[in-house]
Parts: sequence; structure tokens; C-alpha cells
Amino acid sequence: VILFTRSALRASAAAKLHNAVELIKPQLSAVEERIREQARAFDPAIENYIAYACGTNGKRLRPVLALLSGAATGPLSAGHVDLAVILELIHLATLVHDDIMDGAEIRRSQPTTNAKWGNALAVLLGDCLFAHALKLAARFPDNEVCRRIADAAGNVCSGEIIQTQHRFDLKLTIPDYFRIIEMKTAALFAAAGELGAYVSGAGPATTLALKTYGLKLGTAYQVYDDCLDIGGTEENAGKTLGLDLQRGKLTLPVLYLLQDASREEHQRFGEILLRGTPESALEDLAREVVRRGCLRRSVETAKKMVIEAQTELKQLSRSRYTVALQDVAGFLSNTVDQLAAVA
Ligand code: IPE
Ligand code: IPE
Ligand code: MG
Ligand code: MG
Repeated sequence: VILFTRSALRASAAAKLHNAVELIKPQLSAVEERIREQARAFDPAIENYIAYACGTNGKRLRPVLALLSGAATGPLSAGHVDLAVILELIHLATLVHDDIMDGAEIRRSQPTTNAKWGNALAVLLGDCLFAHALKLAARFPDNEVCRRIADAAGNVCSGEIIQTQHRFDLKLTIPDYFRIIEMKTAALFAAAGELGAYVSGAGPATTLALKTYGLKLGTAYQVYDDCLDIGGTEENAGKTLGLDLQRGKLTLPVLYLLQDASREEHQRFGEILLRGTPESALEDLAREVVRRGCLRRSVETAKKMVIEAQTELKQLSRSRYTVALQDVAGFLSNTVDQLAAVA
């Protein structure tokens, strides 16, 4: 009975996401096509590298948010499609750089660009994608759009730098962690919500509500991703997992573990984290995170933030698009829950 209920819940959550995406299907197809044709804007010598990076199938979460926020606040225009393309290209650039820093091998079920061509080439490829996205953003007649996109991109990179500064830092606090993930991940979700509304010409209160929705949802999303790194499977995730502990990234489940630990345990866990080897010790630590309910607690934290995100939407007049934004958030809540159920 429980199994039936769980799979029924999963099916209903997937149906909600499907319905949400269905509402913006033509625009999302246009985004897809546009992303894939961007390689042609580059020198023939590098076209193939860009085509490889742009040819991968991501979940397109940021385009979905930008389009739904746009549609919830006015009719969708070509500007919204441009915005969605730009956000996805920035995201892609950060993934290319992130995979270099993490030494990741697989992304979107394919070898990473660093695995294929080495770090030196991949760094510059990421730069090309950033530069190209900003070039597209500069085409908006209102340069406020470009400014806000550049701001978000700067936040993402700064968040990744601060995270790197705190690798293997056992003194990292939970508020420090949230500040980092708000910058590295939620900033782009916030820009999607905010600019979707801005391009529709929405008023400041509505625009702020959608920005805050994006910020909360993006934060919850990174908590989910950090749980996935510990409790997920690579086949399902389509990317290299288990790297956070190896690279000394202290994520929420581990921070909860350390917070709850006795002084002796803290010492022992700390040594394993700092030494990082053998890998089996890190796997044991990950199991300890699950056994002590720290993954479950992180999931509950993510779900609370999803509810906070949904609450922001009450400020908008109800339409099928605001319902769709609720459903996207609900889908995340459900997905994160399944992760803990498996664990
Ligand atoms: C991965 O983002 C990086 C994080 C911010 C957690 P996504 O999970 O949105 O990756 P894609 O775009 O679907 O590949
Ligand atoms: C990276 O976080 C988020 C970015 C802003 C690029 P992660 O390092 O956890 O992302 P994944 O797990 O590699 O996708
Ligand atoms: Mg990574
Ligand atoms: Mg991750």
C-alpha cells in the first residue's frame, strides 16, 4: 500500500510538472532551438566545442521559470525567449567551469568538456559561453536587463569562489553555507523570476515577489542537489556524484552531522573529511549522515523553503501560470522527499 501511494504521488507530481511545462511548450521549443543554433555564431575553429556544450539536454529549469514568471505577469514575447536562452547559456558556462573545479567526468550523461579536452580548453570554452550570453543580453533595448543578468552571473562566480575558499573548513557555519548557495545557485533562479516579470513590464511588488520566489526555490534546489550528491545514483542524476565530500565541500547534511556530533565524534568525522582518503571512509561517513537522519533533516529544510517560495506567489493574481509556478515548486518538494525515502 505504501509503495503504491509513493508511486502514485510520484506520478501525480510528474503530471503536474508536465502540465506546467505544457503551458509554455512553444516558447520552450523555441528556446531549445535557439540554444542549439548558438554555435554558429562562433569562429569555425571552435564551433564544434560550443556545439558539444550546447547540445546537451539539461532540465532547462531556469528557462522554465523565466517563461512561467513572464506568462504569469503578462503575455509572453520574443524578449522572454531571449531571456530564457541567455539564462541557460550562463548556467551552462557555470557548469563548464564548475566541472573543471570539481574534476567531474560526467555531466548531462556525457563526458564533461574538461574530461574531453582538458582544463585549459574548457576554461576558455566557459568564458566564450559567458561572453556570448552577455552579448545576447546587451541586445535588449533596455540595458537594465543586461545589468541584472551580469549581476547574477557575478554572484554565481563569487559564490563559487567563496565556496572554494571554505573547502575543508570545519568551521563553516550553516548561515555561511546558505550565503554561498544563495549566491552560486539561487541568484540565477532569482534573476529568472525577476526578469521574467520585468520583461513583461510588471510592477515592482510583483517583480520582487517573483525574484524572492526564485531565490527561495533556488536555495531549496541546491540543498536538494547536495542531498543528491550523498543519496542519489549517478544513472538517475546523469552526472558524477559523491564529489562534495571528496572536494571538501561541506554541505547541509554534513553540517548537520557535525553540529549534532559529540566532541569525540566531531574530531573523528573531521579527520575523515580532511584526509579524504581512503574513499571507503568517506562512504562510511555518507552512510553515517543518512543513519543519523541528517539527510532527512536537510530534505525537511528544503521542503520548508519550497513552501516559503510558494507563499510569495500569493501576491500575484491567480492564473494557470501562477498555479504552474506552484506546481514546479511542488515537484521539487516531492522529488527531494523521494530521495530521503530511498535512503
Ligand atoms: C546543476 O543544475 C547545478 C546546480 C545548480 C545544482 P541543474 O540540475 O539545473 O542542471 P541541468 O541544467 O539540468 O543539467
Ligand atoms: C554547482 O554546485 C552549482 C553551480 C552554480 C555551478 P554543484 O557542484 O553541487 O553542482 P553539480 O552537482 O556539479 O551539478
Ligand atoms: Mg559540481
Ligand atoms: Mg552537486
